[in-house]
Amino acid sequence: MLNRLTIRQRILVIFIVITFVGGTVQFLIAGRQLEAATLEFYQHHLETDALLVAATFAEPLGHYLEGEDEGGIGRMLATLQQEVGHDYLILDRNHRVVGYTANTGYEQVDRVPASPELVEADTAQIGSDIRPNHMGEAALYLAVSVRYEGEALGYLVLSEPMAPAYAEVYRRYIELAIATLPVIVLVIGASLWVSSTISRPVQHLRNSALNMAHGALDTRIHVTTQDEIGQLGETLNFMAGQLETLMRTQRSFVSNAAHELRTPLMTLKLRAEALSDETLPKDERETYLAEIQQEIDHMAELVSSLLVLARIDEGRHTQNGVVTDTVSILHDIVRHWRIEAEAKRLEFTAQIASDLPELPLSPNDLRVIVDNLLSNAIKYTEQGHIQMTVSHTPQMVTIQVNDTGIGYSEEQRTHLFERFYRSETARGRFSGNGLGLSIVKAILDHYDGQVEASSPGAGRGSEFTVRLPRRAVS
Ligand SMILES: Nc1ncnc2c1ncn2[C@@H]1O[C@H](COP(=O)(O)OP(=O)(O)OP(=O)(O)O)[C@@H](O)[C@H]1O
Ligand SMILES: [Mg+2]
Repeated sequence: MLNRLTIRQRILVIFIVITFVGGTVQFLIAGRQLEAATLEFYQHHLETDALLVAATFAEPLGHYLEGEDEGGIGRMLATLQQEVGHDYLILDRNHRVVGYTANTGYEQVDRVPASPELVEADTAQIGSDIRPNHMGEAALYLAVSVRYEGEALGYLVLSEPMAPAYAEVYRRYIELAIATLPVIVLVIGASLWVSSTISRPVQHLRNSALNMAHGALDTRIHVTTQDEIGQLGETLNFMAGQLETLMRTQRSFVSNAAHELRTPLMTLKLRAEALSDETLPKDERETYLAEIQQEIDHMAELVSSLLVLARIDEGRHTQNGVVTDTVSILHDIVRHWRIEAEAKRLEFTAQIASDLPELPLSPNDLRVIVDNLLSNAIKYTEQGHIQMTVSHTPQMVTIQVNDTGIGYSEEQRTHLFERFYRSETARGRFSGNGLGLSIVKAILDHYDGQVEASSPGAGRGSEFTVRLPRRAVS
């Protein structure tokens, strides 16, 4: 049920329930104590009064019992009632009425039954009881045992309606309630404030997240606090930043791919048009056909590179295998590239440790990595030498390729692994799609490997280092 409420409503409900329950319990406890104290004060006041009055009756009652004082007690009672304002009843030891003022609360009989206050007064000198009087109103009955020289002669009974005491109790309850009210108002105000300080930023986060979801990835949340909500805001900002970069790369990837495909397609179109001319000499026709062949190869290469990258991006690159014969695979690859290097009159040396361990990647991926590095080294070197060194430590295998080719500036170095990136120097003089190194990097990321490039500067050769962990990262 609470789950259906907003955070704000939940906080409000909880605060109000706690305040209400706590306030009521407090109110009842305090009220009870006030009530008890008020009633006790009332009773105590009357008891003192009754004890004093009882003492004054000791002697007259003694005389009365000896038959000497007809009417004296009656007069004393009348005076007392006028002066003090209470109603009294004087009884002898056997509860027989000796004298009384009006409204004593007893049925006016000669003899009074043994009511609780009288029974209590026998043992404790003073006894009390609260019960409805003959008019049906709650009244306090006090009985004091009247003694003369240690002998119990009878009782003085005082009865007072409880209404004034109850009225006082009621008044105190009202006062208490009035005092509690500001506290409740304060708590409700505080809960409104707390709930809004929590719910407002959450609402703000929600709106910003919705904006981001609708494509406004440049939306940023203005983080003002360091608490959990502030941290959530920062996380959302970070997520939006990452998504923005990802979207930008994806978009430029698609537009680059389209652009790269358009140029060879244009060439194909022009050559096909030229070939449709039947008067075209045979040798020109052959040249065009060869160019068409070349463009098709180029496009096929581009498309297969794009497919490799797409597969890796989609997380479908699952060629997890093991290279068991690392040394012989590497020698095999080197054999092919040595021929290419020699065709370009480049010196080629390879130092491959003879005790290389198994590697936790597919042989094909290893081939793609090394092929790309060596093909680049040979392509971008016009004279000098290429050197490949493969070594290992207990943790990893390192493949290093050095060349004496065109190299690159520090600024160019930072872009080498970007998709479609080709340095200005490479663009003018060498063919390529700018995808080889990004494929190498994507494959290595998949296996938790690394690739680094360094160069002393443009025209001064280059060095690429690949590090492959010996154990697959689970
Ligand atoms: N050995 C190297 N020496 C100098 N520059 C290099 C070397 N290897 C790569 N580069 C630079 O890095 C760029 C990207 O290389 P990458 O292999 O990704 O693409 P590419 O060789 O141009 O095309 P392809 O997709 O056919 O490999 C190259 O265009 C070149 O500018
Ligand atoms: Mg390349």
